[in-house]
Amino acid sequence: MIYSRITGTGSYLPDKVLTNQDLEKIVDTTDQWIRERTGISKRHIVAENQSTVDLAEYAARRALKAAGRDAQDIDLIIVATTTPDRVFPSTACLLQKRLDRHGCAAFDIQAVCTGFVYAVGVADKFIKTGAAKCALVVGAEVLSRVLDWTDRGTCVLFGDGSGAVIIEAGDEPGILSTHLHADGAYESLLTVAGGVGQGYASLLDGNGYVSMKGNEVFKVAVNTLGRIVDETLEANQLEKSDIDWLIPHQANIRIIQATAKKLKMSMERVVVTVGEHGNTSSASVPLALDVAVRDGRVKRGETLLMEAFGGGFTWGSILLKF
Ligand code: UT7
Repeated sequence: MIYSRITGTGSYLPDKVLTNQDLEKIVDTTDQWIRERTGISKRHIVAENQSTVDLAEYAARRALKAAGRDAQDIDLIIVATTTPDRVFPSTACLLQKRLDRHGCAAFDIQAVCTGFVYAVGVADKFIKTGAAKCALVVGAEVLSRVLDWTDRGTCVLFGDGSGAVIIEAGDEPGILSTHLHADGAYESLLTVAGGVGQGYASLLDGNGYVSMKGNEVFKVAVNTLGRIVDETLEANQLEKSDIDWLIPHQANIRIIQATAKKLKMSMERVVVTVGEHGNTSSASVPLALDVAVRDGRVKRGETLLMEAFGGGFTWGSILLKF
């Protein structure tokens, strides 16, 4: 039996910080409203001369270093992103070039905020079937570039960043299960409605920016994440108390608290970065993981539950022994 295990983590946040106070000067909002409704105090914003692949490269190099691996060891690259540098080639191919790694499979996954969870699910299957031995999985986003900075309902929520993991084949359990779901019936509740497939004109008149029916998304997210927690525990015949750490998608502190309550977990066992990072979409789970690994909270051998929910709708979870 081949197992797959995370052997290194890395992340990156751009230097520029945008605080709630800065946003008060841009849109009709208050620091108090943003903190009370979302838990967010600040977020990082990409520099003008940076793009998704730049963010991805930093996180990837840090994850490689943490795993004690060289780019030449990688035989699979998956980048989860909703904000790719180009229509094509994929950001994964651009990253592959940066890493000077030639020939291995490289592709992007688009599952919005659940992208990293999807990408780990795919990499896990490549490794467990013997198709890959050392995968680089990255979540990287420049959500700030698809925000309408006059829409207070969305622009206060998101931030830029990246996170990465190295997943390797081994003979001891690491990733125990992944659970991936989607329901496209909800496509209109959280969307960038335009896209090149509809012609460039479809991106005009605000359709190139995020639009969201926040309250409706919120309700579905809370219910759905509650269900996926049950599904994941059941599949592994585990009890809630078996989970050492919850590493959730960082969209809103109230959604995170609801999931923790469902798990009967104290917030001390939940990794929360939304206050400092905002919602970084596919980067949020690997960023939170890397923060908690580097500050010493998450230790080898502990059981981690990661979950995410996003546009599509898509949702998913990863249960693993770190
Ligand atoms: O990562 C993908 C998944 N995304 C999510 O999970 C996001 C889910 N949704 C949410 O997190 C929350 O719904 C929001 C944080 C987006 C909004 O919080 P809410 O408690 O659902 O507020 P609301 O949308 O019901 O709006 C309440 C009020 C409205 O004013 P009225 O109609 O009551 O007068 C909004 O216009 O708050 C107003 N509002 C704001 N006020 C100040 C909306 N945005 C702002 C703002 N500042 N930035």
